[in-house]
Amino acid sequence: MSPVGHLISLLLLVVTSLAEEKAVVTEARCGAVFADPYKPVQIQVFENFDCTWTIDRPSNDTTRVIFSAFDLNPSADCSQENITVFDDNFEVLGVLCPNSPKIAVYDSPGRVYIQVSTDSTERDRTVYFSYYSVAAVNAVDCGRNLRGYSGTISSPNYPNRHPPFSYCLWHLETPKNTKVKLSFTDIFIEIDPLCRFDFIAVYDGPDTNAPLRDVLCGRRVAEVETTSNFLTLQFSGDYANSLFGFSTTYTALPQSNKSSLACNGDSMTVVFNPDYIRGLGYSSSDLTLINASCTAQSDNPIVFEVPFYGCGTVKKARHDHIIFYTNVIYGTAGGDMITRQKDLQFFVTCELDMDSTVEIMYMSTNQVIYNHQENGKYDVSLAYYQSKDFDSPILESPYLIDLNDTIFLQASVNAQDPDLTVFIDTCFASPEPDFKAPNYDLIRSGCIKDNTYHNFASGSGFARFSFNAFRFLKVHPSVYLQCRLVICDINEAESRCNEGCVTRQRRDLGSQLWKTHAVLGPIRLKHHSESEAAGSISEKKEEVVKTDQSSLYIMGISVLVVNILILALVLMRYYRKQPTGYRYLPVATQ
Ligand SMILES: *[C@@H]1O[C@H](CO)[C@@H](O)[C@H](O)[C@H]1NC(C)=O
Ligand SMILES: *[C@@H]1O[C@H](CO)[C@@H](O)[C@H](O)[C@H]1NC(C)=O
Repeated sequence: MSPVGHLISLLLLVVTSLAEEKAVVTEARCGAVFADPYKPVQIQVFENFDCTWTIDRPSNDTTRVIFSAFDLNPSADCSQENITVFDDNFEVLGVLCPNSPKIAVYDSPGRVYIQVSTDSTERDRTVYFSYYSVAAVNAVDCGRNLRGYSGTISSPNYPNRHPPFSYCLWHLETPKNTKVKLSFTDIFIEIDPLCRFDFIAVYDGPDTNAPLRDVLCGRRVAEVETTSNFLTLQFSGDYANSLFGFSTTYTALPQSNKSSLACNGDSMTVVFNPDYIRGLGYSSSDLTLINASCTAQSDNPIVFEVPFYGCGTVKKARHDHIIFYTNVIYGTAGGDMITRQKDLQFFVTCELDMDSTVEIMYMSTNQVIYNHQENGKYDVSLAYYQSKDFDSPILESPYLIDLNDTIFLQASVNAQDPDLTVFIDTCFASPEPDFKAPNYDLIRSGCIKDNTYHNFASGSGFARFSFNAFRFLKVHPSVYLQCRLVICDINEAESRCNEGCVTRQRRDLGSQLWKTHAVLGPIRLKHHSESEAAGSISEKKEEVVKTDQSSLYIMGISVLVVNILILALVLMRYYRKQPTGYRYLPVATQ
């Protein structure tokens, strides 16, 4: 809007609010009957109150009752003090307790009864509601169900005045493991300190029963973020003072604020926060999948829809019927040699089981895995430690060791709940960060496969183990670890965490709260790396860059937690014998 436009709209606002100042008449008469087609009602309520008001509407019409402000005794018990709304047949439509969210809307045919009861505490209380007959006033029903990554929502007729009696509900769904960010660029609706008359309500979930996050009105801008990938937006306008409404954009943001991965039936959805990619020195146009003609579907947020069949996706099928689909998002920034960034790689894998899916995502730059992904409720980390005392984690990457060194690892769940325990179900090593090369099992389904592997006693929130990397480092310059960690409730006797080794014969698997994958960056031999560094000038430069990075991403380097999937009580299916049993199937491009 131009400055002149702003001025005019402000003047209009002042004029309209002066001209049509809503005279809210307080109605205190206990048990009144309202017969008008629409009416705002403010009730003054005292202690020991028990009154029922009747909204008398033709039985054919839908009566809409909108509560937008009430102030009861906040310390009263709901069984003593509440507002109960009944329909024509005296069935309860809803109960508003002293601490209920302040917005409630009921649609019901015919008469509606509103009963207000209070306890004996001396205190002023007010209740505001308005009602109208949907047919009698030609109410405007609007709103939509929206799915996607981004878009715009505005009120009816925006940027012109919205009609009176507008009532809109928008239900938004963004990809799994993302949240919704709403940015209101313009709100210009009736001003009221309590937002009683016209209001925008934002709910953190799929419908209006979800927690109420915000109620907005007046002239302002605002931003609201949800916790899950669902959001409900409600707009209600009453009989008068309709102004210009609102406009908002919505975008999907990864729940970790960096990146997220969701596995669907035949594709996976990767969502990046554009700020995160920008912070790494890249833009969305620098990113492609294995098949470089497959680029991002959207710039804000940056979204890749990765098909299971096509775009270079590799399918691995194991003889235990677990299928893996993997693709890589490459970042190659332009520019000359001096300013060129290190190449980025995001490995994305969907593991599909009969009963479950697991999303695995991690990032590496030139084989240094340094990012820490967090998705979901629990933050689980896996880190190397100096010794069996487990008091100081290793923060450098790569982790340089001597040939006979024992490697100590701890998996921890960083949660307040002392009843959570971690169990190392499976860990395997690979010379490649993408685990494409033959993997070597250290432990699988709780069964120890490597004779240097040792489990230490686990405690509340952590599990510890050690092994010797000698076997790999003799043959390969680097070793990466990928572990499957299971989180259980310590009080659950039958949990997966108490079962230990599960063989093919024992298919009856205990319960678990979560499972997660963690990938840990490379272990290298000390002398190997030194001789490598001495090899050429260019390699020396690279070591310098790596050192810088390790100080930048000091926590991230040591630990890479990939993705956490909520899978309550899902049976585990890991019955593999030979680690070399992977088959690589080329995937047909369609
Ligand atoms: C209600 O509906 C009935 C039949 O559906 C109709 O005969 C009657 O006129 C309607 N009443 C009103 C007030 O619209
Ligand atoms: C609401 O208050 C009334 C009167 O005190 C009480 O009978 C009723 O049980 C209360 N409703 C609820 C859901 O507590």
